[in-house]
Amino acid sequence: MDPETSDAVWEPLRQAATAALAHAYVPYSRFPVGAAARLEDGTIVSGCNVENASYGLTLCAECTMIGAARMCGGGLIREFYCVDGSGGILMPCGRCRQLLYEFSTADTRIMTSRGIKTMDQVLPDAFGPRDLDSAAAQTADP
Ligand code: THU
Repeated sequence: MDPETSDAVWEPLRQAATAALAHAYVPYSRFPVGAAARLEDGTIVSGCNVENASYGLTLCAECTMIGAARMCGGGLIREFYCVDGSGGILMPCGRCRQLLYEFSTADTRIMTSRGIKTMDQVLPDAFGPRDLDSAAAQTADP
């Protein structure tokens, strides 16, 4: 059994993401999204999309999930799973890939409709925290 593809790894995340759908606030798009992640300490966190009458202020499900991850202090993301309103696997939008990247490692795995992927596969050549460090080093006074 490959631990990476095992149901024991992914089924609890699918269930948590699906359960989160019940909390989605989507009066404008009518497109509920649920997201879930297992963190480094094993905690499973979830999130749902929360829309706003000022449409652009909408919080994606990944956004509320990242807030939950920070609040519980469980560490970086080990695995991530996102679903649409019918429970089908949903690819995180571009902005949310960036949100996830901030809290991922080279070992983070993302469930996608094309199989299990690394963060680098879903957001190649990403800008991240280390780029800020190297930019600061380049501009630092000698
Ligand atoms: N949405 C998410 O919550 N996550 C994504 O990765 C894709 C889009 C939400 C935003 C909006 O509430 C609805 O889906 C339709 O775009």
